[in-house]
Amino acid sequence: MLDLIIRNASIPDEPALLDIACREGRIVERAAHIDGQAETEIDAKGYLVSPPFVDSHFHMDSTLTYGRPRVNESGTLLEGIRLWGELKSTLSSDDFEQRALMLCRWAVAKGNLAIRSHVDISDPSLTAAHVLLSVKEKVKPWLDLQLVAFPQDGLYRHPDAQKQLEQSLDLGIDVVGGIPHFERSYEEGRQSVEALCRIAADRGLMVDMHCDETDDPSSRHIETLASTSIQLGMHGRVSGSHLTSMHSMDDYFADKLLGLMHEAQINAIACPLINITLQGRKDTYPKRRGMTRVKEMVDKGINCSFGHDCVMDPWYAAGSHDMLEVAHMGLHVAQMTGTAQARSVYDAITVNPARALNLVNYGLSVGCNADMVILQAAGPIEAIRLRATRLFVIRRGKIISKTPAVKSEVEMLGATQQITFAQTEIP
Ligand code: FE2
Repeated sequence: MLDLIIRNASIPDEPALLDIACREGRIVERAAHIDGQAETEIDAKGYLVSPPFVDSHFHMDSTLTYGRPRVNESGTLLEGIRLWGELKSTLSSDDFEQRALMLCRWAVAKGNLAIRSHVDISDPSLTAAHVLLSVKEKVKPWLDLQLVAFPQDGLYRHPDAQKQLEQSLDLGIDVVGGIPHFERSYEEGRQSVEALCRIAADRGLMVDMHCDETDDPSSRHIETLASTSIQLGMHGRVSGSHLTSMHSMDDYFADKLLGLMHEAQINAIACPLINITLQGRKDTYPKRRGMTRVKEMVDKGINCSFGHDCVMDPWYAAGSHDMLEVAHMGLHVAQMTGTAQARSVYDAITVNPARALNLVNYGLSVGCNADMVILQAAGPIEAIRLRATRLFVIRRGKIISKTPAVKSEVEMLGATQQITFAQTEIP
């Protein structure tokens, strides 16, 4: 007896509909028709069955604090860091936990079953690290939470950051983070990249740095990150997040840099929702978009993901942890409108971040974990266009979330019976 059969599934890049069979939490068969019965059977009716969405860059400790202690009126990264600096020492363990659990519920409902969250380790008590390690265990049946030790106030700018970062890794935080562009000088930023990579290499951990999240084209810490990861043999285990200075770099240098990133197998993580709002704030007109060079990275074969980064916190006032919304914005900002380009945007919220996070048994092949999302869309590009309803979210072969299908495009827009537009009723 099988645990689950999904019939008539449209799987990305498969030419015909398939049935998918699951047993004991794994996909055990894929075929045009699978005989036999299962405890649960779902007719996907030709809708898209996708591997779950993966958010490769998030901040679970600051999420859902929007307006506390007040709103970021300038909309800049630096005012956000100042506001978070005021707020974080006032937050209790319970506050951290309740917000994180709420966000995880939202994530599951949207089909996001793996999240890499940075955790600020600048607080001497490491409250956020302790709480999120406990949340990671609590939510394990539903989603994989991977945690990054993030020295938000700088490795050298904050007097105890290095000690606290090592302590947080001793507690079990998974990945080494950094923020070289926020150190006091370029030179200290460069030194922080090398020191943090060495800590990760010595412990056998991955690296994910906030890197060059600025409009300053001289901010080139990604070059140090790539060359250091080559020197330390960390190919494919290092991620550079944001990389927005690449938007403003000279084309000649950027082209050389892309080659170096490719050689180092750097995982690039762009955050289109937040960087389209944070960057270019000091520009008049023309105003830079501030997102990194996604299209060029994809063309070069660099593993490129999109992260949500923030939901309702000192840096970003909007969001509901919907990775299709992230992909939708990314498609626009990076101008990924060609068919292959739009299709690659879907990879940026599924298989590419799964690779960056080194997720095991991810995907829809036989033997993979039976983790899937059934979307009310014919394929990946339509799913992005519609930010399609997540009809079923499945984890290890069990349905963990359901959302009713919308019956028409009118209903999808939020109307139940009729829309009134310009005094005219549309039936
Ligand atoms: Fe971030």
